[in-house]
Amino acid sequence: TRVVTIDGIAALIQDVPDFPKPGVTFKDITPVLARPDAFQAVVDAMVASAPEGIDVVCGMEARGFIFGAPVALALGASFVPVRKSGKLPRDTVESTYDLEYGTQTLAVHTDAIRAGDRVLIVDDVLATGGTVAATADLVHRLGGSLVAVTVLMELAFLAPRERLEWRDVDLITSLI
Ligand code: PRP
Repeated sequence: TRVVTIDGIAALIQDVPDFPKPGVTFKDITPVLARPDAFQAVVDAMVASAPEGIDVVCGMEARGFIFGAPVALALGASFVPVRKSGKLPRDTVESTYDLEYGTQTLAVHTDAIRAGDRVLIVDDVLATGGTVAATADLVHRLGGSLVAVTVLMELAFLAPRERLEWRDVDLITSLI
């Protein structure tokens, strides 16, 4: 059967209990990637949700790369990898945020986004919102204009939108 509906894509995402630690249920999107029709449908829906005139697509390490890169190509936009600290070789700006245990730092090359660029953030899962909030911070500090955030899945029970700036909440689209 061909998967073209959002319900069909949702059914492919597997819940893995107690990964990576007890009490956490991991959302495994790899079965979506294994089905070209499903992967294509996700990329198409993300592209369709994007506002006009996107200059830059930011994808966050690591699963944001998987969806962000094809979305950028389809939009004719630059792809910018937002990486965990210590991976990018040139001048970077960094943003640190709290995880359940400890902190995480994300980095982007300072010349990856120019003042006035219209930016779309793409990731697989919006959970606590910390990753998107940190990426939005990097975009703003480089003078970019964050115009939309697109994710495959939002975990509403974690209330990610409460962690994001009020002005950003209306920009978020989740397919599931
Ligand atoms: C996952 C996911 C998002 C982020 C969402 O990435 O791919 O980027 O967590 O969580 P948040 O909304 O609570 O910030 P992870 O940190 O597991 O990195 P990985 O993709 O490299 O495994």
